[in-house]
Amino acid sequence: MDYLEIEGDNKLSGAIKIDGAKNAALPLLAATILFKNEVTIDNLPRVNDVFTILQLLENLGATTNFEDNQAKIDASSITNTTAIYDIVRKMRASILTLGPLLARFGECKVSLPGGCAIGQRPIDLHLKALEMMGAEIVIEQGYVRASVPKGLQGATIVLDKITVTGTENIVMAAALAHGETKIINAAKEPEVVQLCEVLNANGVKIEGIGSDELIIKGTGQKLIEAKKNITVIPDRIEAGTYLCAGAITNSKITLNNVNHTHLFTIILKLQEMGFDFDLKENSITIKPAAKIKGAKITTSEYPGFPTDMQAQFMALALVAEGASSIDEKLFENRFMHVSELIRMGANIILSNHTAMVEGKNELNGADVMATDLRASSALVLAALVANGTTRVHRIYHLDRGYVTLEKKLQQLGAKIKRLKE
Ligand code: EPZ
Repeated sequence: MDYLEIEGDNKLSGAIKIDGAKNAALPLLAATILFKNEVTIDNLPRVNDVFTILQLLENLGATTNFEDNQAKIDASSITNTTAIYDIVRKMRASILTLGPLLARFGECKVSLPGGCAIGQRPIDLHLKALEMMGAEIVIEQGYVRASVPKGLQGATIVLDKITVTGTENIVMAAALAHGETKIINAAKEPEVVQLCEVLNANGVKIEGIGSDELIIKGTGQKLIEAKKNITVIPDRIEAGTYLCAGAITNSKITLNNVNHTHLFTIILKLQEMGFDFDLKENSITIKPAAKIKGAKITTSEYPGFPTDMQAQFMALALVAEGASSIDEKLFENRFMHVSELIRMGANIILSNHTAMVEGKNELNGADVMATDLRASSALVLAALVANGTTRVHRIYHLDRGYVTLEKKLQQLGAKIKRLKE
C-alpha cells in the first residue's frame, strides 16, 4: 500500500492545471447506458472512481476505451443488467447505474452500496422516486432488484431532501421514461447541471436546468443518439483543495482550467479569511493574506458551502488567528479527520455536528490515517505546514478522487513523496 511522506513548513509557488470533475464524470459515464451509439467524453480525470465505473460498464457488456483524458464508450452492446457487489462495493456512486439500466431494460439488479466513512448514506429517495415512476423494487440478498415491464412512467417527484446522485438517477431514469417527469427540490450542483445539459443537447428535452425544479420529457424507451463530444467540467473540489493549499501555506499559486462561477462560495469564504485573488478567464491566482482570520462555516447544498470542502477548511482554520466554527449539515459522520488532526497538535472540540477550531495551532508531523477522500486531503494540507515529517497512510482514498496529488503539489514546490508501506 502507498503512503505520502510530507516535509512541512515550506511555501508554495507556481501554477498547476485542474482536472475534470470526478463527480461530473461519474453520472456522465453512467448516462452512456442511455445512448444507442458511441459516446466520447473528454477531460475525464484519471482517478480510481472513474476506472471503477468504466469497469462496471464493461462488466455490463459495454465496450470502453480510455486513453489520456478521453474515453469512448459504446453501451449499445449491454446485455447484462446486474451491477455486481464486487465492483459496487468499491464505489457508492455505482448506484448511478440503477436509473439508466432500469429505464432502458425495464429490469435490473444493482448491489446496494453499504454505509461509508462519512455517514449512513441511504438511497431511499432514489428508490422512492423510481417506485413513483412505476417500478417494483425489492431488496434481495444485498441487491436492489427493480422491474417495470412496460417501462417507467413520468411522475411528479418531490424530494424530501436535496440529493445529488438521487437527482441524477431520476433525471437519467426520466430521460427514457414515457411522458413527463417533474422533480421538485432537485439538486443544483454544477455536476447535475452538466448531466442535464448533455442529455438536453442530445435530444432529451429538459426544462429548468440549474433550478430546483426540473421537467424532463422522456423518450419512451427510445435510446438517445450522441451528437458530439462531451467535455467534463473542471473539478471545483480539486480546485478548492489547491486554493486551500495556497492559503494554508500563505503562498501565491495559480490554478488553470477552472470555472470561477462554480468556485464562488469557496472564493468568498477565503476572502473572508483574508485572501485576495486574481481572476482570469479560466484561471485563478490566490495571493497571501496579511493576516489569516478564523471563519464560521456551515455546509449546505450548492450554491452553499460544499461539504466536500469542509475538511480542507478545517485544516486551514488551524493556522488562522482566532477561532473558527464548522457546522456539518449534510453527513453525520464527516469529522473523521478531527482525531487525526488532533494527533498533529490541533485544538478542535467536537460537539454533535459542530467543530470548534482554535486558531494558531503549532502543528507537528505525525503518522496519520486517511479515512475518506476529502479527509485525506485535509491531512495533506495540515502536513504542508506542520513541523517535521508527516506520513499519511491509506491514501487509496485520495487516489479515488485526486489526479496525482503528490505530483501537482511537487510542481508547486511542496516536499512530498509517494512511498510504499
Ligand atoms: C454526492 O454524494 C457526491 N458524490 C459527494 O461527493 C458529496 O459529498 C455529496 O453529493 C454532497 O454534495 C457524487 O457526486 C458521486 P447526497 P451523494 O445524496 O449524492 C441524504 C466526494 O468526496 N440522502 O446529495 O451520495 C444523505 O444521507 C463525495 O466526492 C438520503 O437521506 O450525496 C445526505 O445526508 C463524497 N436519502 C444528504 O441526503 C437518499 O436517498 C445529501 O446526500 C439520498 C441522500
